[in-house]
Parts: sequence; structure tokens; C-alpha cells
Amino acid sequence: ANPPQKALSGQDKNSFGYATLQSRLPVIVSKIVDDVYRSYHNLSDADPLKKEKEQEAKKIIELIGGLRYELQRDKPFRPLTDEREDVEEWNQTLAEYYPTSSWYKASWLFSECYLYRRIKEAFALTQHWKDYDPFFEQKQTVFKSSQKAVVSMAVQLTTPVDPKTHKSVLDIKVQEGPESKGTRDAFFEMVQVSLWGNATDLSLLDNPDLAKVEELQRRMLSSGSSNNSSANASPAASTVHLDQVAQEDREEHASELEKHADKILSNDSELLWSKVKSMRNGRVDIILDNSGFELYVDFVFADFLVRAGFASEVVFHAKRIPWFVSDVMPIDFQWTLDQLHRPTSDNNNFFNPTDPIEQQALQALGQKWQSYVNNGTWKVTSHEFWTSCYAFYHLPTHPSAQDLFQDMRQSDLWIFKGDLNYRKLVYDCGWPVTTPFTKAIGPLGDGEEKAEGVPTVVSFRTCKADVVVGLAEGVKEKMDKVAANWQVSGEYAVISVSP
Ligand code: F6P
Ligand code: MG
Repeated sequence: ANPPQKALSGQDKNSFGYATLQSRLPVIVSKIVDDVYRSYHNLSDADPLKKEKEQEAKKIIELIGGLRYELQRDKPFRPLTDEREDVEEWNQTLAEYYPTSSWYKASWLFSECYLYRRIKEAFALTQHWKDYDPFFEQKQTVFKSSQKAVVSMAVQLTTPVDPKTHKSVLDIKVQEGPESKGTRDAFFEMVQVSLWGNATDLSLLDNPDLAKVEELQRRMLSSGSSNNSSANASPAASTVHLDQVAQEDREEHASELEKHADKILSNDSELLWSKVKSMRNGRVDIILDNSGFELYVDFVFADFLVRAGFASEVVFHAKRIPWFVSDVMPIDFQWTLDQLHRPTSDNNNFFNPTDPIEQQALQALGQKWQSYVNNGTWKVTSHEFWTSCYAFYHLPTHPSAQDLFQDMRQSDLWIFKGDLNYRKLVYDCGWPVTTPFTKAIGPLGDGEEKAEGVPTVVSFRTCKADVVVGLAEGVKEKMDKVAANWQVSGEYAVISVSP
């Protein structure tokens, strides 16, 4: 189908698409070469397959080097040659829509998706590296550097603050009932945590500065936390009653929230709350974005929905192949849970807080979340559609997405996380910034082409690409004066809802 507006492409030298093709993607691709090189050099001499694995690794490096060359010289796209189940669809699309196209000529969205699929091809053509994730080490490193924020949030969520009931701050708030002020306050905090968790993904930070990641998370936490005293919990602090939280802390927290709220340039969270508070034991689908810290805060948000009784089923949609560097694959999902609650015998845990309160908090949270998975409250699933070249306009009608769409129609709420999911929702086109979100998402919205059975759709997105919609008149003009790169820096965000 034709895009509803002119598709954004790397041909425009002032676009972030151009900058991405020109400088960001070549760095991402080069890092894969380094990663594979390191991995095969670390193979053990005792490994009987060492020779074969080495040869295959060299082949991968050659293919990835070739890919970088094609990208940098703007060579025409070529068909895929591996045997994954999606090959035919990719090759048909290439032949039909992009027969003479290339990286800069095609839409930026297509070129970028094609790049990640070509990366997968290099591994899929081997025996021993088929399932290898060349981004896994980066995902791990950055998640490890998130320890402070991870631990402090775990303490806030689990540490008993009420000496009588042993309930945590969150439990105290939600026990007041789904429509109470406490639950409402918790909801708005959780929304901010979930939103800003998207700011620290790896594909934007192509050379992740770990100090910067920590700083981003510190800022984010101060927006999302409700009890700063327990964030730095000492055993004594763990039994502080809510009333004892210093007035100063609350004031500081309120002003942090306000500062963050200013950075949400279009904020439909009230609309979202209207929907959520009407739900009892519903189903929520979260179309995940990044692994590591963002996934962790997605768990936090999903846990809130369950604890408050809004949802009894949360379906997490992950990617089947390594995608846009840090996106979650099912293996990352389980790995993340494991790091929280599986102590290793050699005392060499992934996270190693020294305070026993902090250790217990991580364990408790990990175990609770694992129990949601074990009893089916949380499900992780994946579908080829999420890593196809198709925009989400095609979800209701694309033949190979029918099973996915029919299943997702059972849901009460679809939450799309992050920048790429947003781009795919709005078809990554040159929409005027004041276009209503409900219009820009085509069949998933409320226009004439509206598809039957789509529930409430929400996007939590920090802005990291050219397209943005749903802004009020004058916001763009104001922002252009505030920061030249506001559309792509990841410092600003939108929460968009189509009821
Ligand atoms: O490389 C382009 C891009 O799609 C940007 O829009 C964004 O910076 C990144 O990749 C993906 O971001 P996210 O992980 O939030 O989808
Ligand atoms: Mg991502």
C-alpha cells in the first residue's frame, strides 16, 4: 500500500534519517564485526568445533563488511539468501516495491529494517552462529550499569513501609481501590517511569557513555519515585511509615515531576487513565522495545496493572531476531528475570548490592515476576510481523499477520513502547506535527479506514526521529527556539492515545 503521506527518506540531508544512514548505522555495523571477532578469539581450545566456528565467524565478518560497504556506497538492495521463514515475503516486497531502490532512495524506515534483517542473514547462513545475538554483550553492559536505578526501584516497590501490614508504598496506594487517589497517583508515576525508560536505549547511544546512562536514569527515577527516603534504604529506613516521609522530599519530587511533565510535548495520559481505571482483570498487550533497563520498567508498569486489579493478563510482544540493537527478544526477557532472582553459588551475581535490604528487594521482585510468568499472568510471545518491513497500518490486513491480529483483538489495551514502534504506527511519514494521532495511525485509529476490533492504542515514546504528530498549534515553533534537536535527542516525549 502507498504511505498516507510522503515517506521520510535519507535523501533529505537535513533529516535524522540521513544522519543515521551516514554515521550511526556504519558504527553499529562495525561494532558487530568487533563483537564477532572477540567471540571467536575467545573460543576455547578444548572446543572440538573451534575450527569450524572460526571459519564461519570469518565468513560472518566478511558479509557484515560487505553490508557496510553497500550501505556507505548506496548500492542497490539485493534479495536475501538465507532460509528463514520470512525470506520469501522480504524478497517479494523488494522485487515489487524496491526493484531499483537503494539505502538513501528508499524510505528510511524500510532501509533500516532491511539492514537489521541483512545482519540476521549473515548469522542465519551458518551452522554454529545461527542464534547468536551480536548485541547481547552491549545489552548486558548497559543493564549492569543500571544497577543503581534498578535496585532503588526494587526497594521502593517491595520494602515494607507499614510496620503493621508489611505493605510497600505501592501496595498501600493500590489497596485504596482502582478509582482511589492513591491508585491514580501511582498510575501517573508508573506512566512516567515507563515512558522515560525508553530514553536509555542502545541504538541512539551508539557509543554508550555509561555515566550518561546512569544520569538519565537518576533523573527518570526522581520523576517516578514516590518515596525518596526509601530509595537509599538502610535497614532502619525500611520501616519508615509513609507519613514520615519528609515534606521537603515530597516537594522536591513534585517539582521534578513538573519538570518532566513539561518535556512531554503531547500528553494523553488522562485519556489513558480513563481507560485503565474502567478495566477489571483485563488483558493488556505491551509491544516491547528495548531490553535491559527499559524492559525492567515495563515489568514495573505491568506489575502495577496486575497489583491494582486492572489486568489479570499481560502479553509481552518481543522480537524474533536481533533488532535495532537493543530490542527485546524472548531470550532477553527470561534472562532479565533470571538476573534479578537467581543467586549464583559463586556469589558472582549480575547485580551485587551490598545492603541485604537491597538484595532481598531484587530477589522478591524477581520471584514475584517469575511467578506471574509461571502462572500465565504474564506471557511473552513473538511474531515475524514485528521484524518485517511493514508499518503497523498493515497489522489488520496483512495475510501473514492474521493470527497475531486476531489474537491481539482479545486485548483491552495495546501499549506500544518506544521510538521505532511509534514510527511504525504513524508510517514514518512527513505528517504535519498537528495531525491528530488517531488519524496518523490509520486503520488502528478512528478514521474512515478504521479496522474492526482494535482496542485502545497508546504509545509511550521519547522522541528520537524526525516524525512527530499530535502537537498543539505553536508547540513546534516554541520547541524550535528551545533546542534545535528536540525531535531526535530523546529528551522530549509524547504519550499518545487513540481511545
Ligand atoms: O536509528 C533510528 C531509530 O529508529 C531512531 O528513531 C531511534 O533512535 C532508534 O532507532 C530506536 O529507538 P527505540 O529503541 O526507542 O525504538
Ligand atoms: Mg529499540
